[in-house]
Amino acid sequence: MLKKRYAEEAERISGLELGRDADLKHPVFGDGNPDKPLIMFVGEAPGKDEAASGRPFVGKAGKQLDAMLALAGIDRSKVFVTNSVKYRPTKVADRRVSNRTPMPSEVKDGLALLRFEIETVCPSVIATLGNVPLSAVRMLSDTEGEKLNVGMAHGMPTVIVVGGRLIHLFPLYHPASAIYNRELKPVLEQDLIRLGDFARSL
Ligand code: URA
Repeated sequence: MLKKRYAEEAERISGLELGRDADLKHPVFGDGNPDKPLIMFVGEAPGKDEAASGRPFVGKAGKQLDAMLALAGIDRSKVFVTNSVKYRPTKVADRRVSNRTPMPSEVKDGLALLRFEIETVCPSVIATLGNVPLSAVRMLSDTEGEKLNVGMAHGMPTVIVVGGRLIHLFPLYHPASAIYNRELKPVLEQDLIRLGDFARSL
């Protein structure tokens, strides 16, 4: 089911006219255990390595995710990994192409597929990595809540309802933010230990 939908989405994305730089020819879709995994990780958007390989969280970001899973005591084979936006948003400066944060319109454009992934995969827990996926997943929830950011919500699970199903939302900082801001590293590590304990307790 996912495979067919991903092929349709690749076709749709290749025809998008965004008016912004983005790698629309190399979309990256979800990967991992698609059968009721313990945890679905939702990141921001693919980077260069992901666009080149067609898989989320490979290269440097993949090593960070593996280290996060090791702290949580959870095997990557038990999780499903995807992104809010399925193509690499880029910017060009001094003729160098680099990643940029997805625009709200790009996140909105990816919501239908993210909903499909959540409803098809049926995870017990959704762990969001940073503010972009936190707000994307909360936009899909049937339950209304006040505006949240990862600084307020990290490490604290709440229940959301997506497609009539209760899911535990567990917000985390994005692993890259713990590299730019060293003070966040112990916070993220503590949250990961909590995430592992929480998921195993369900
Ligand atoms: N960062 C993300 O948010 N997603 C990826 O797939 C890679 C890096």
